[in-house]
Amino acid sequence: MKNVRAAVFASGTGSNFQAIMDATDLPVDVVLLVCDRSDAVVIDKAKQYGIETYVLEPKRFSAKEAYEQMVLEKLRELGITWLFLAGYMRIVGTVLLTSYRDRIINIHPSLLPDFPGKDAIGQAYRAAVGTTGVTVHYVDEGIDTGPIIAQQEVVVKPDDTLETLTNRVHQAEHHLYPAVIRQLLGEKTQTSLPAKNTTKVGNVQ
Ligand code: GRF
Repeated sequence: MKNVRAAVFASGTGSNFQAIMDATDLPVDVVLLVCDRSDAVVIDKAKQYGIETYVLEPKRFSAKEAYEQMVLEKLRELGITWLFLAGYMRIVGTVLLTSYRDRIINIHPSLLPDFPGKDAIGQAYRAAVGTTGVTVHYVDEGIDTGPIIAQQEVVVKPDDTLETLTNRVHQAEHHLYPAVIRQLLGEKTQTSLPAKNTTKVGNVQ
């Protein structure tokens, strides 16, 4: 039993969810998966880890606020204080931001502020950049615009295909996300860190 209880928000395959769950030394208990798609692969992963899943489809609600209010009630019921977005394909709205500002983080597969939004790895590949990477950042009202916490570079090799680059970027994500959670939450539970610090973590070649 740890001090901090967190939820992962995910809509997709859940490889980052898995990386967080497999990092068993994190100073946080992930006690809930919030998922906005009933057909998402990540739901099965959560079952395998014995994690409660809250599946709620926004299209069933008249407005984002009503959807997020239901999610908020669940988070409060479980005493959750941190939210980790991992492939949650929605913009977080006012209801969750008001209650969890500076305690919602996201992982994005580019070196922000470059290539925000969808298909970031494809965007970087098509732009023929020499280096891309991954970013963990606080979540604000924008699309991948919140303050950056940490980044990890991934060198684009001359013979990279989109697939090989994608694999290395994901590999970097699976390293960086648990590392940031470990550092951020570990420090926060011991001392009161300033909310926004920037750390560069090593490269993936
Ligand atoms: C990751 O690339 C993440 O950075 C992005 O969405 C993807 C989710 O992948 N936001 P997965 O579901 O964690 O495998």
